[in-house]
Amino acid sequence: MSTPTSVQTDKTERRKLFIKSYGCQMNVYDATRMADVLAPEGYEETTDMAEADLVVLNTCHIRERAAEKVFSELGKVRVLKEERASRGLDMKIAVAGCVAQAEGAEILRRQKAVDLVVGPQSYHRLPDMLRNVQNGVKIETDFPTEDKFDHLVAPARAKVASRGISAFLTIQEGCDKFCTFCVVPYTRGAETSRPIAKILDEARHLVDAGVREITLLGQNVNAFHGLDEKGDVVSLPGLTARLAQIPGLLRLRYMTSHPNDMAQDLIDAHVQQPALMPFLHLPVQSGSDRILRAMNRKHTAKEYCDLIDRFRAIRPDIALSSDFIVGFPGETEEDFQATLDLVQKINFSSSYFFKYSMRPGTPGAEMDDQVPEEVKSERLHRLQVLVDGQRHAYNDASVGKVMPILFEKKGRDPGQIAGKSPYLQAVQVDGPESLIGCVADVLITEALTNSLKGTLVGEVR
Ligand code: 5AD
Ligand code: SF4
Repeated sequence: MSTPTSVQTDKTERRKLFIKSYGCQMNVYDATRMADVLAPEGYEETTDMAEADLVVLNTCHIRERAAEKVFSELGKVRVLKEERASRGLDMKIAVAGCVAQAEGAEILRRQKAVDLVVGPQSYHRLPDMLRNVQNGVKIETDFPTEDKFDHLVAPARAKVASRGISAFLTIQEGCDKFCTFCVVPYTRGAETSRPIAKILDEARHLVDAGVREITLLGQNVNAFHGLDEKGDVVSLPGLTARLAQIPGLLRLRYMTSHPNDMAQDLIDAHVQQPALMPFLHLPVQSGSDRILRAMNRKHTAKEYCDLIDRFRAIRPDIALSSDFIVGFPGETEEDFQATLDLVQKINFSSSYFFKYSMRPGTPGAEMDDQVPEEVKSERLHRLQVLVDGQRHAYNDASVGKVMPILFEKKGRDPGQIAGKSPYLQAVQVDGPESLIGCVADVLITEALTNSLKGTLVGEVR
Protein backbone atom coordinates (compact mmCIF):
# COMPACT_ATOMS: atom_id res chain seq x y z
CA MET A 1 0.00 0.00 0.00
CA SER A 2 1.18 3.51 -0.66
CA THR A 3 0.40 4.69 2.84
CA PRO A 4 3.15 6.28 4.91
CA THR A 5 4.29 4.02 7.73
CA SER A 6 6.27 4.74 10.83
CA VAL A 7 8.68 1.90 11.43
CA GLN A 8 8.88 0.14 14.76
CA THR A 9 12.43 0.41 16.07
CA ASP A 10 14.17 -1.47 18.86
CA LYS A 11 13.64 1.59 21.01
CA THR A 12 9.84 1.39 20.68
CA GLU A 13 8.38 0.26 23.98
CA ARG A 14 6.53 -3.07 23.65
CA ARG A 15 2.93 -2.90 24.79
CA LYS A 16 -0.15 -5.11 24.70
CA LEU A 17 -3.36 -4.24 22.89
CA PHE A 18 -6.77 -5.83 23.42
CA ILE A 19 -9.54 -4.95 20.94
CA LYS A 20 -13.12 -6.14 21.27
CA SER A 21 -15.46 -5.50 18.35
CA TYR A 22 -19.24 -5.47 18.38
CA GLY A 23 -21.72 -5.36 15.50
CA CYS A 24 -21.11 -5.55 11.78
CA GLN A 25 -18.26 -6.77 9.57
CA MET A 26 -17.11 -3.21 9.01
CA ASN A 27 -16.25 -3.02 12.70
CA VAL A 28 -14.27 -6.26 12.36
CA TYR A 29 -12.36 -4.65 9.48
CA ASP A 30 -11.88 -1.40 11.43
CA ALA A 31 -10.48 -3.37 14.38
CA THR A 32 -7.79 -4.89 12.14
CA ARG A 33 -6.91 -1.44 10.81
CA MET A 34 -6.70 0.00 14.34
CA ALA A 35 -4.33 -2.84 15.29
CA ASP A 36 -2.29 -2.03 12.15
CA VAL A 37 -2.05 1.67 12.99
CA LEU A 38 -0.96 0.87 16.56
CA ALA A 39 1.61 -1.81 15.63
CA PRO A 40 4.40 0.69 14.79
CA GLU A 41 3.79 2.23 18.23
CA GLY A 42 4.86 -1.07 19.79
CA TYR A 43 1.38 -2.51 20.42
CA GLU A 44 0.99 -6.26 19.97
CA GLU A 45 -2.44 -7.84 20.16
CA THR A 46 -3.37 -10.04 23.10
CA THR A 47 -6.48 -12.10 23.79
CA ASP A 48 -6.16 -11.50 27.54
CA MET A 49 -7.71 -8.19 28.52
CA ALA A 50 -6.08 -8.27 31.97
CA GLU A 51 -2.58 -7.95 30.52
CA ALA A 52 -3.45 -5.13 28.09
CA ASP A 53 -1.82 -1.71 28.27
CA LEU A 54 -4.56 -0.49 25.94
CA VAL A 55 -8.13 -1.80 25.71
CA VAL A 56 -10.20 -0.67 22.72
CA LEU A 57 -13.94 -1.35 22.69
CA ASN A 58 -15.07 -0.99 19.08
CA THR A 59 -18.76 -0.39 19.54
CA CYS A 60 -22.06 -0.72 17.65
CA HIS A 61 -25.01 1.68 17.91
CA ILE A 62 -27.47 0.00 15.56
CA ARG A 63 -29.85 -1.26 18.27
CA GLU A 64 -30.31 -0.21 21.89
CA ARG A 65 -29.07 -3.53 23.28
CA ALA A 66 -25.82 -3.27 21.31
CA ALA A 67 -25.23 0.26 22.59
CA GLU A 68 -25.99 -0.63 26.23
CA LYS A 69 -23.46 -3.50 26.15
CA VAL A 70 -20.70 -0.89 26.03
CA PHE A 71 -21.54 0.54 29.41
CA SER A 72 -21.73 -2.87 31.12
CA GLU A 73 -18.44 -3.94 29.47
CA LEU A 74 -16.80 -0.66 30.56
CA GLY A 75 -17.71 -1.47 34.17
CA LYS A 76 -15.75 -4.73 33.88
CA VAL A 77 -12.77 -3.08 32.16
CA ARG A 78 -12.63 -0.47 34.92
CA VAL A 79 -12.19 -3.21 37.54
CA LEU A 80 -9.22 -4.62 35.58
CA LYS A 81 -7.77 -1.13 35.22
CA GLU A 82 -7.96 -0.64 39.00
CA GLU A 83 -6.37 -4.05 39.63
CA ARG A 84 -3.50 -3.19 37.32
CA ALA A 85 -3.12 0.24 38.96
CA SER A 86 -2.80 -1.48 42.36
CA ARG A 87 0.20 -3.36 40.88
CA GLY A 88 1.69 -0.13 39.54
CA LEU A 89 0.67 -0.91 35.93
CA ASP A 90 -1.16 1.39 33.56
CA MET A 91 -4.16 0.52 31.38
CA LYS A 92 -5.63 2.98 28.91
CA ILE A 93 -9.25 2.51 27.84
CA ALA A 94 -10.45 3.72 24.42
CA VAL A 95 -14.01 3.58 23.15
CA ALA A 96 -14.20 3.50 19.33
CA GLY A 97 -16.92 2.86 16.75
CA CYS A 98 -20.47 4.09 16.38
CA VAL A 99 -21.39 4.53 20.08
CA ALA A 100 -18.27 6.67 20.42
CA GLN A 101 -19.50 8.73 17.47
CA ALA A 102 -23.06 9.12 18.74
CA GLU A 103 -22.54 9.35 22.49
CA GLY A 104 -18.88 10.30 22.99
CA ALA A 105 -19.45 13.03 25.58
CA GLU A 106 -21.96 10.86 27.45
CA ILE A 107 -19.41 8.01 27.67
CA LEU A 108 -16.78 10.29 29.19
CA ARG A 109 -19.38 11.61 31.65
CA ARG A 110 -20.74 8.19 32.65
CA GLN A 111 -17.49 6.24 32.88
CA LYS A 112 -14.55 8.21 34.26
CA ALA A 113 -12.12 5.33 33.64
CA VAL A 114 -12.34 5.97 29.87
CA ASP A 115 -9.24 7.75 28.53
CA LEU A 116 -10.19 8.20 24.88
CA VAL A 117 -13.21 8.33 22.60
CA VAL A 118 -12.63 7.97 18.87
CA GLY A 119 -15.25 7.87 16.10
CA PRO A 120 -15.09 5.53 13.06
CA GLN A 121 -13.72 8.25 10.78
CA SER A 122 -10.88 9.25 13.14
CA TYR A 123 -9.14 6.07 14.27
CA HIS A 124 -6.04 6.88 12.23
CA ARG A 125 -5.47 9.55 14.89
CA LEU A 126 -5.24 7.01 17.72
CA PRO A 127 -1.42 7.13 18.06
CA ASP A 128 -1.47 10.93 18.40
CA MET A 129 -4.38 10.81 20.78
CA LEU A 130 -2.57 8.30 23.00
CA ARG A 131 0.48 10.56 23.10
CA ASN A 132 -1.68 13.57 23.96
CA VAL A 133 -3.99 11.97 26.46
CA GLN A 134 -2.10 13.57 29.36
CA ASN A 135 -2.80 16.97 27.78
CA GLY A 136 -6.51 16.40 28.02
CA VAL A 137 -7.21 15.40 24.39
CA LYS A 138 -9.88 12.78 24.93
CA ILE A 139 -12.37 12.89 22.10
CA GLU A 140 -12.21 12.80 18.27
CA THR A 141 -15.62 12.44 16.71
CA ASP A 142 -15.57 15.10 13.98
CA PHE A 143 -15.84 13.92 10.42
CA PRO A 144 -12.28 15.02 9.53
CA THR A 145 -11.55 16.52 6.13
CA GLU A 146 -8.64 14.15 5.58
CA ASP A 147 -9.40 10.56 4.55
CA LYS A 148 -8.47 8.12 7.31
CA PHE A 149 -7.49 5.54 4.69
CA ASP A 150 -4.67 7.84 3.53
CA HIS A 151 -3.18 7.76 7.02
CA LEU A 152 -3.50 4.09 7.81
CA VAL A 153 -0.57 1.75 8.08
CA ALA A 154 -0.18 -1.33 5.87
CA PRO A 155 -0.08 -4.45 8.04
CA ALA A 156 3.01 -6.67 7.94
CA ARG A 157 2.73 -9.64 5.58
CA ALA A 158 2.91 -12.10 8.48
CA LYS A 159 0.10 -10.24 10.25
CA VAL A 160 -2.19 -10.50 7.21
CA ALA A 161 -1.33 -14.20 6.87
CA SER A 162 -2.21 -14.83 10.52
CA ARG A 163 -5.68 -13.40 9.93
CA GLY A 164 -6.59 -16.16 7.50
CA ILE A 165 -7.32 -16.60 3.83
CA SER A 166 -10.64 -14.74 3.77
CA ALA A 167 -10.44 -10.99 4.38
CA PHE A 168 -12.67 -7.94 4.52
CA LEU A 169 -11.91 -4.79 2.59
CA THR A 170 -13.93 -1.62 3.06
CA ILE A 171 -14.55 0.10 -0.28
CA GLN A 172 -17.44 2.43 0.60
CA GLU A 173 -18.68 3.98 3.80
CA GLY A 174 -21.64 5.94 5.02
CA CYS A 175 -25.17 6.20 3.73
CA ASP A 176 -27.46 8.84 2.22
CA LYS A 177 -30.61 6.71 2.25
CA PHE A 178 -31.96 7.72 5.66
CA CYS A 179 -34.19 4.76 6.39
CA THR A 180 -36.28 6.03 9.28
CA PHE A 181 -35.13 3.35 11.75
CA CYS A 182 -31.41 3.62 11.10
CA VAL A 183 -28.55 5.48 12.82
CA VAL A 184 -25.94 4.74 10.16
CA PRO A 185 -26.28 8.02 8.19
CA TYR A 186 -25.60 9.85 11.47
CA THR A 187 -22.80 7.65 12.86
CA ARG A 188 -20.95 6.82 9.63
CA GLY A 189 -21.79 10.01 7.75
CA ALA A 190 -22.43 10.66 4.06
CA GLU A 191 -21.76 8.02 1.45
CA THR A 192 -18.19 7.99 0.12
CA SER A 193 -16.33 5.53 -2.12
CA ARG A 194 -12.60 4.88 -1.94
CA PRO A 195 -10.48 5.43 -5.08
CA ILE A 196 -9.91 2.34 -7.26
CA ALA A 197 -6.11 2.46 -7.06
CA LYS A 198 -6.16 2.40 -3.25
CA ILE A 199 -8.52 -0.57 -3.20
CA LEU A 200 -6.44 -2.49 -5.75
CA ASP A 201 -3.27 -1.77 -3.75
CA GLU A 202 -4.84 -3.03 -0.56
CA ALA A 203 -6.24 -6.13 -2.30
CA ARG A 204 -2.84 -6.95 -3.86
CA HIS A 205 -1.21 -6.63 -0.45
CA LEU A 206 -3.77 -9.05 1.03
CA VAL A 207 -3.41 -11.59 -1.79
CA ASP A 208 0.38 -11.40 -1.66
CA ALA A 209 0.15 -12.49 1.99
CA GLY A 210 -2.07 -15.47 1.15
CA VAL A 211 -5.63 -14.11 1.12
CA ARG A 212 -7.77 -15.99 -1.44
CA GLU A 213 -11.22 -14.49 -0.84
CA ILE A 214 -12.12 -10.85 -0.30
CA THR A 215 -15.48 -9.56 0.90
CA LEU A 216 -15.91 -5.96 -0.16
CA LEU A 217 -17.66 -3.97 2.54
CA GLY A 218 -19.85 -0.91 2.53
CA GLN A 219 -23.06 0.21 4.18
CA ASN A 220 -24.38 0.64 0.63
CA VAL A 221 -21.74 -1.33 -1.18
CA ASN A 222 -23.64 -1.67 -4.45
CA ALA A 223 -23.86 2.13 -4.71
CA PHE A 224 -20.06 2.14 -4.98
CA HIS A 225 -18.72 4.75 -7.42
CA GLY A 226 -14.96 5.04 -7.00
CA LEU A 227 -12.69 7.13 -9.25
CA ASP A 228 -10.03 5.43 -11.35
CA GLU A 229 -6.60 6.82 -12.32
CA LYS A 230 -8.16 8.85 -15.18
CA GLY A 231 -10.84 10.32 -12.93
CA ASP A 232 -13.60 8.18 -14.43
CA VAL A 233 -16.28 6.72 -12.19
CA VAL A 234 -16.14 2.94 -11.77
CA SER A 235 -19.13 1.08 -10.37
CA LEU A 236 -19.07 -2.15 -8.36
CA PRO A 237 -19.00 -4.62 -11.31
CA GLY A 238 -16.16 -2.58 -12.85
CA LEU A 239 -14.24 -2.85 -9.60
CA THR A 240 -14.84 -6.59 -9.18
CA ALA A 241 -13.68 -7.17 -12.79
CA ARG A 242 -10.39 -5.41 -12.01
CA LEU A 243 -9.94 -7.19 -8.69
CA ALA A 244 -10.56 -10.57 -10.33
CA GLN A 245 -7.43 -10.00 -12.45
CA ILE A 246 -5.18 -10.17 -9.38
CA PRO A 247 -3.43 -13.55 -9.66
CA GLY A 248 -4.27 -15.73 -6.66
CA LEU A 249 -7.52 -13.97 -5.76
CA LEU A 250 -10.09 -16.73 -6.20
CA ARG A 251 -13.34 -15.38 -4.77
CA LEU A 252 -15.11 -12.06 -4.35
CA ARG A 253 -18.16 -11.21 -2.29
CA TYR A 254 -19.75 -7.92 -1.29
CA MET A 255 -22.11 -6.65 1.36
CA THR A 256 -24.44 -4.94 2.29
CA SER A 257 -26.57 -3.92 -0.68
CA HIS A 258 -29.72 -1.84 -1.12
CA PRO A 259 -32.36 -3.11 -3.58
CA ASN A 260 -32.57 0.26 -5.35
CA ASP A 261 -28.86 0.17 -6.26
CA MET A 262 -28.97 -3.36 -7.68
CA ALA A 263 -28.15 -2.32 -11.28
CA GLN A 264 -28.50 -4.76 -14.18
CA ASP A 265 -24.74 -4.72 -14.89
CA LEU A 266 -24.11 -5.92 -11.34
CA ILE A 267 -26.66 -8.71 -11.75
CA ASP A 268 -25.04 -9.65 -15.10
CA ALA A 269 -21.61 -9.67 -13.45
CA HIS A 270 -22.71 -12.69 -11.42
CA VAL A 271 -22.83 -14.60 -14.72
CA GLN A 272 -19.91 -12.94 -16.50
CA GLN A 273 -17.39 -12.89 -13.64
CA PRO A 274 -16.59 -16.35 -12.24
CA ALA A 275 -14.86 -14.86 -9.17
CA LEU A 276 -18.11 -13.24 -8.04
CA MET A 277 -19.84 -15.76 -5.80
CA PRO A 278 -23.53 -16.72 -6.28
CA PHE A 279 -24.62 -15.26 -2.96
CA LEU A 280 -26.44 -12.00 -2.32
CA HIS A 281 -27.29 -10.36 0.99
CA LEU A 282 -30.08 -7.97 0.03
CA PRO A 283 -32.07 -6.67 3.00
CA VAL A 284 -35.77 -6.03 2.41
CA GLN A 285 -36.69 -5.28 6.07
CA SER A 286 -40.46 -5.81 5.59
CA GLY A 287 -42.91 -7.32 3.13
CA SER A 288 -45.58 -4.64 3.69
CA ASP A 289 -45.68 -1.66 1.33
CA ARG A 290 -47.22 0.51 4.05
CA ILE A 291 -44.30 -0.26 6.39
CA LEU A 292 -41.69 0.00 3.62
CA ARG A 293 -43.04 3.50 2.91
CA ALA A 294 -42.90 4.45 6.60
CA MET A 295 -39.34 3.08 6.70
CA ASN A 296 -38.43 5.32 3.72
CA ARG A 297 -37.09 2.32 1.83
CA LYS A 298 -38.29 3.79 -1.49
CA HIS A 299 -39.31 0.46 -3.03
CA THR A 300 -42.29 -1.87 -2.79
CA ALA A 301 -42.42 -5.55 -1.90
CA LYS A 302 -43.28 -6.35 -5.54
CA GLU A 303 -40.30 -4.37 -6.82
CA TYR A 304 -38.05 -6.42 -4.52
CA CYS A 305 -39.60 -9.71 -5.69
CA ASP A 306 -39.34 -8.66 -9.36
CA LEU A 307 -35.67 -7.87 -8.83
CA ILE A 308 -35.07 -11.31 -7.36
CA ASP A 309 -36.96 -12.88 -10.30
CA ARG A 310 -34.68 -11.05 -12.74
CA PHE A 311 -31.64 -12.25 -10.83
CA ARG A 312 -32.82 -15.85 -10.71
CA ALA A 313 -33.71 -15.80 -14.40
CA ILE A 314 -30.03 -15.50 -15.27
CA ARG A 315 -28.41 -17.05 -12.18
CA PRO A 316 -30.93 -19.64 -10.91
CA ASP A 317 -28.62 -20.94 -8.19
CA ILE A 318 -28.10 -17.57 -6.49
CA ALA A 319 -28.42 -17.95 -2.70
CA LEU A 320 -30.28 -15.09 -1.06
CA SER A 321 -30.29 -13.65 2.41
CA SER A 322 -32.01 -10.65 3.95
CA ASP A 323 -32.43 -8.57 7.11
CA PHE A 324 -35.88 -8.10 8.61
CA ILE A 325 -37.18 -5.74 11.26
CA VAL A 326 -40.34 -6.78 13.11
CA GLY A 327 -42.49 -4.39 15.10
CA PHE A 328 -41.63 -1.18 13.25
CA PRO A 329 -44.00 1.58 14.52
CA GLY A 330 -47.50 1.02 13.18
CA GLU A 331 -46.87 -2.58 12.04
CA THR A 332 -50.16 -4.50 12.21
CA GLU A 333 -50.68 -8.25 12.14
CA GLU A 334 -51.64 -7.83 8.47
CA ASP A 335 -48.35 -6.03 7.73
CA PHE A 336 -46.42 -8.74 9.51
CA GLN A 337 -48.30 -11.40 7.56
CA ALA A 338 -47.11 -9.66 4.37
CA THR A 339 -43.53 -10.11 5.61
CA LEU A 340 -44.12 -13.83 6.18
CA ASP A 341 -45.67 -14.05 2.70
CA LEU A 342 -42.60 -12.43 1.14
CA VAL A 343 -40.29 -14.83 2.98
CA GLN A 344 -42.38 -17.77 1.73
CA LYS A 345 -42.29 -16.44 -1.80
CA ILE A 346 -38.57 -15.71 -2.03
CA ASN A 347 -37.24 -18.70 -0.07
CA PHE A 348 -34.01 -17.43 1.50
CA SER A 349 -30.95 -19.56 2.24
CA SER A 350 -30.48 -17.64 5.50
CA SER A 351 -31.67 -14.41 7.09
CA TYR A 352 -31.20 -12.05 10.01
CA PHE A 353 -34.16 -10.69 11.93
CA PHE A 354 -34.41 -8.02 14.61
CA LYS A 355 -37.01 -6.49 16.86
CA TYR A 356 -37.37 -2.80 16.03
CA SER A 357 -35.26 -0.78 18.44
CA MET A 358 -36.03 2.89 18.91
CA ARG A 359 -32.91 4.92 18.16
CA PRO A 360 -32.65 8.49 19.46
CA GLY A 361 -32.41 11.07 16.69
CA THR A 362 -34.02 8.90 13.99
CA PRO A 363 -37.51 9.68 12.61
CA GLY A 364 -38.77 6.25 13.77
CA ALA A 365 -38.25 7.24 17.39
CA GLU A 366 -40.75 10.09 16.95
CA MET A 367 -43.46 7.93 15.41
CA ASP A 368 -46.73 7.15 17.18
CA ASP A 369 -47.93 3.59 17.37
CA GLN A 370 -44.80 1.98 18.80
CA VAL A 371 -45.44 -1.77 18.91
CA PRO A 372 -45.48 -3.41 22.39
CA GLU A 373 -42.45 -5.52 23.26
CA GLU A 374 -44.51 -8.75 23.70
CA VAL A 375 -45.96 -8.36 20.22
CA LYS A 376 -42.48 -7.85 18.74
CA SER A 377 -41.18 -10.95 20.55
CA GLU A 378 -44.05 -13.10 19.36
CA ARG A 379 -43.63 -11.95 15.73
CA LEU A 380 -39.88 -12.43 15.90
CA HIS A 381 -40.43 -16.00 17.02
CA ARG A 382 -42.80 -16.76 14.14
CA LEU A 383 -40.39 -15.26 11.62
CA GLN A 384 -37.49 -17.16 13.15
CA VAL A 385 -39.32 -20.50 12.80
CA LEU A 386 -40.05 -19.79 9.13
CA VAL A 387 -36.54 -18.56 8.27
CA ASP A 388 -34.81 -21.38 10.19
CA GLY A 389 -36.97 -23.88 8.31
CA GLN A 390 -35.88 -22.36 5.01
CA ARG A 391 -32.22 -22.45 6.03
CA HIS A 392 -32.44 -26.11 7.01
CA ALA A 393 -34.29 -27.02 3.81
CA TYR A 394 -31.67 -25.14 1.79
CA ASN A 395 -28.82 -27.03 3.49
CA ASP A 396 -30.64 -30.37 3.21
CA ALA A 397 -31.04 -29.77 -0.53
CA SER A 398 -27.23 -29.43 -0.81
CA VAL A 399 -26.73 -33.07 0.17
CA GLY A 400 -25.68 -35.13 -2.87
CA LYS A 401 -24.31 -32.10 -4.75
CA VAL A 402 -20.66 -31.58 -5.67
CA MET A 403 -19.45 -28.06 -4.90
CA PRO A 404 -16.12 -26.23 -5.14
CA ILE A 405 -15.06 -25.51 -1.55
CA LEU A 406 -12.47 -22.91 -0.60
CA PHE A 407 -10.65 -24.26 2.46
CA GLU A 408 -9.92 -21.68 5.14
CA LYS A 409 -8.71 -23.36 8.33
CA LYS A 410 -8.40 -26.52 10.39
CA GLY A 411 -11.73 -28.19 11.14
CA ARG A 412 -13.37 -28.97 14.46
CA ASP A 413 -11.88 -32.49 14.78
CA PRO A 414 -8.31 -33.66 14.13
CA GLY A 415 -7.74 -34.48 10.46
CA GLN A 416 -10.58 -32.17 9.38
CA ILE A 417 -10.40 -28.96 7.39
CA ALA A 418 -13.13 -26.32 7.12
CA GLY A 419 -14.13 -24.15 4.21
CA LYS A 420 -16.99 -22.35 2.51
CA SER A 421 -19.24 -23.26 -0.37
CA PRO A 422 -19.92 -20.64 -3.07
CA TYR A 423 -23.26 -20.12 -1.30
CA LEU A 424 -21.54 -19.15 1.99
CA GLN A 425 -22.26 -22.44 3.75
CA ALA A 426 -19.63 -23.73 6.19
CA VAL A 427 -18.33 -27.13 5.08
CA GLN A 428 -16.19 -29.66 7.01
CA VAL A 429 -14.25 -32.48 5.31
CA ASP A 430 -11.56 -34.98 6.25
CA GLY A 431 -8.50 -33.72 4.41
CA PRO A 432 -4.92 -32.48 4.63
CA GLU A 433 -4.07 -29.01 5.97
CA SER A 434 -2.08 -28.46 2.77
CA LEU A 435 -5.46 -27.75 1.09
CA ILE A 436 -5.99 -24.61 3.16
CA GLY A 437 -6.06 -21.73 0.69
CA CYS A 438 -7.10 -24.02 -2.19
CA VAL A 439 -10.43 -24.79 -3.87
CA ALA A 440 -11.36 -28.45 -4.27
CA ASP A 441 -14.51 -30.29 -5.32
CA VAL A 442 -16.46 -31.78 -2.44
CA LEU A 443 -19.46 -34.11 -2.43
CA ILE A 444 -21.83 -32.93 0.29
CA THR A 445 -22.86 -35.95 2.36
CA GLU A 446 -24.66 -34.51 5.37
CA ALA A 447 -26.38 -31.32 6.57
CA LEU A 448 -25.68 -30.53 10.25
CA THR A 449 -27.38 -27.74 12.24
CA ASN A 450 -25.02 -24.95 11.15
CA SER A 451 -22.72 -26.55 8.62
CA LEU A 452 -22.36 -29.25 5.97
CA LYS A 453 -20.15 -32.34 5.88
CA GLY A 454 -18.58 -33.69 2.73
CA THR A 455 -15.86 -35.76 1.12
CA LEU A 456 -13.16 -34.64 -1.29
CA VAL A 457 -13.89 -35.92 -4.78
CA GLY A 458 -12.15 -33.76 -7.29
CA GLU A 459 -9.15 -31.97 -8.55
CA VAL A 460 -7.58 -29.32 -6.37
CA ARG A 461 -7.65 -25.93 -8.13
N1 5AD B 1 -33.92 -1.62 15.07
C1 5AD B 1 -33.80 -2.92 14.68
N2 5AD B 1 -33.02 -3.32 13.67
C2 5AD B 1 -32.32 -2.37 13.01
N3 5AD B 1 -31.48 -2.45 11.96
C3 5AD B 1 -31.03 -1.21 11.68
N4 5AD B 1 -31.58 -0.33 12.52
C4 5AD B 1 -32.39 -1.02 13.35
C5 5AD B 1 -33.23 -0.65 14.43
N5 5AD B 1 -33.37 0.62 14.81
C6 5AD B 1 -31.20 -3.70 11.26
C7 5AD B 1 -31.63 -3.63 9.79
C8 5AD B 1 -30.32 -3.53 9.08
C9 5AD B 1 -29.39 -4.32 9.99
C10 5AD B 1 -27.95 -4.08 9.81
O1 5AD B 1 -29.80 -3.95 11.27
O2 5AD B 1 -32.30 -4.83 9.46
O3 5AD B 1 -30.36 -4.06 7.76
FE1 SF4 C 1 -29.29 2.23 7.37
FE2 SF4 C 1 -28.91 0.60 5.26
FE3 SF4 C 1 -31.04 2.26 5.33
FE4 SF4 C 1 -28.56 3.25 4.99
S1 SF4 C 1 -29.72 1.88 3.57
S2 SF4 C 1 -30.13 4.08 6.35
S3 SF4 C 1 -27.35 1.86 6.29
S4 SF4 C 1 -30.61 0.50 6.70
